Amino acid sequence: MSFGFQARIARRFDEEIRFFKGWIHGPKTVGSIMPTSLTAARSMASLIDPASGLPVLELGPGTGVITRAILARGLAPEKLVSIEYSAEFHARLTADMPAVNFIRGDAFNLALTLGPWREQTFDSVVSGIPLLNFPMEQRVALLEDLLDRVPPGRPVVQFSYGPSSPIAPRRGSYTVAHHDFVMRNVPPARLWVYRRGI
Ligand SMILES: C[S@@+](CC[C@H](N)C(=O)[O-])C[C@H]1O[C@@H](n2cnc3c(N)ncnc32)[C@H](O)[C@@H]1O
Repeated sequence: MSFGFQARIARRFDEEIRFFKGWIHGPKTVGSIMPTSLTAARSMASLIDPASGLPVLELGPGTGVITRAILARGLAPEKLVSIEYSAEFHARLTADMPAVNFIRGDAFNLALTLGPWREQTFDSVVSGIPLLNFPMEQRVALLEDLLDRVPPGRPVVQFSYGPSSPIAPRRGSYTVAHHDFVMRNVPPARLWVYRRGI
């Protein structure tokens, strides 16, 4: 077995342990007992445009699986702004990827949490926060706020375990599209894309 392969397995195992610890401390906010699969992370990251010149906004990075998939698309780490609620996950992410702009705070209060980035237009938004654990009114309000921060037509992509969109269609000024069903995720997950102005 090569050293690189062993190191990858060790990192994955370490991520799963960290994730489970996070779940014990905050099951409602973590929302899952396993990190996102690489397949789902890559599928979400495929929607960003690293050549747009604009930064990308990530919500709920957790152990950083999706963060790494975004960086693997060629986005400079300085161009990624990522909001994580948990202090433990935030500390580890900052240590692992110091050039990424990790912010510790609540994604549902972007005007406050984004700080110096509050007036920034982002290329797109990639979200792993467990929306199903929050009331529908809050989900719709968050989506409308996110869509105000990306150019018309650019995506907000959301991870979810439910069979249908976690944000109800026809509740606001957005379209809903099913992007992917990832069987290889544990449990299987669906990826949803929301846009405005198309
Ligand atoms: C299902 S986990 C994401 C898993 C991540 N993709 C991974 O593989 O490690 C949800 C993450 O969203 C974070 N989160 C939940 N509510 C949040 C909020 N209001 N603002 C920011 N992050 C939040 C949790 O702390 C957790 O890290």
